[in-house]
Amino acid sequence: MFDFSYFTPTKVVFGRNTESRVAHLIKEYGGTKILIHYGGGSVVRSGLLQRVTDTLDAAGLSYVTLGGAVPNPHLGLVYEGIELCRREHVDFLLALGGGSAIDSAKAIGYGVANEGDVWDFYDYKRKAAGCLPLGVILTIAATGSEMSDSSVITKEEGLVKRGYSSDFGRPRFAIMNPELTMTLPDYQTACGCTDIMMHTMERYFTNGGNMELTDALAEGLLRTVKKNALILRDDPADYDARAEVMWAGSLAHNGLTGCGNDGGDWMTHKLEHELGGLYDVAHGAGLAAIWGSWARYVFRNCLPRFRRFAVNVMEVGEDGTDEEIALRGIEAMEDFYRSIHMPTNLRELGVKATDEDLRLMAHKCAVGVGGKMGSARVLDEEDMLAIYRASM
Ligand code: NZQ
Ligand code: ZN
Repeated sequence: MFDFSYFTPTKVVFGRNTESRVAHLIKEYGGTKILIHYGGGSVVRSGLLQRVTDTLDAAGLSYVTLGGAVPNPHLGLVYEGIELCRREHVDFLLALGGGSAIDSAKAIGYGVANEGDVWDFYDYKRKAAGCLPLGVILTIAATGSEMSDSSVITKEEGLVKRGYSSDFGRPRFAIMNPELTMTLPDYQTACGCTDIMMHTMERYFTNGGNMELTDALAEGLLRTVKKNALILRDDPADYDARAEVMWAGSLAHNGLTGCGNDGGDWMTHKLEHELGGLYDVAHGAGLAAIWGSWARYVFRNCLPRFRRFAVNVMEVGEDGTDEEIALRGIEAMEDFYRSIHMPTNLRELGVKATDEDLRLMAHKCAVGVGGKMGSARVLDEEDMLAIYRASM
């Protein structure tokens, strides 16, 4: 077991109608002038934005709004948000939506609280010394950004998608009403379930340290999301299934399922981020399209974990050699993806990449991770290219 620190400062307010407490929570954390940041309009159509502004008006809190955070959110809007916050003397950020609105808000927060170009943080040139305080009303269970330290932004020039992690960016509060996720298209619900599981799997497939409790939490979380993803496929209005998945999403990425190990592998995410930057695919679908090829490429180097995953999560039984069991687990995971209409390769994802495109992605990915990365197996640029090729 490795030493670890576990820091989750976010106050979670979970359940039906909890968004009605937003003004109270903002005041609790000292906000007086708020930027409400959101995406392409789902919060307008659902009426959430109107309800939030009504609540803030009634509480005497002033605000400005900025919509337009796209999936794989863009740096350009971040710059716009920074300017707006400075002009309007904003002292608190409120993100309404999913990972894209939240990550964009975090980036705006870094930009306001620090001098110079905010992209420097995402380009690993320097570290932020602070962030404007941020609260979240979550409308999609997926990234865990509502409790996580990370923010992922795409720079339009060169389509470079990069993440930056800092405890300063962790939201002060996260309001989670599972009912708010019921307007999601089925595809986005499934993408979210895939991402949630992957955040735990990235930490689980490691060769560096482990803890019995962490493993039990991880396996329980994975089984719970798998089961409830199938319930939501058939009945998207099932409140309890929405709630299970929503809470799992936060716990999958707030560090809990990484305590005691080396932090995990994360190469499926890194490979996906190149896809998201270049082809603008939904993050969860991109992960599903890559994972099987990654798993087949690395599983022999991390066999005990793949075997354990196959038996305890995918429940494929213990007949055969360790390799056979591990492979049955990978196949069962891909069957699960198909069952929730997720792609299992790049063609199914709709990506028509040439070999040159794959080489470019492998190169950008290798540069982004500083040459090599991975824990289940350390991968270099050649390995990354081999995985992209296998996923075609
Ligand atoms: O933009 P709107 O109109 O709100 O529509 C969104 C968007 O089209 C829609 N949506 C969200 N809630 C809805 C809804 N539609 C109807 N009803 C609702 N209740 O769903 C679409 C996807 O939303 P988005 O916020 O893009 O999804 P997600 O939460 O999956 O975020 C993806 C982004 O987060 C990054 C990803 O790379 C990607 O850029 N990630 C962030 C992480 C983090 N900060 O910790 C970790 C992740 O691994 C991930 O990399
Ligand atoms: Zn993710």
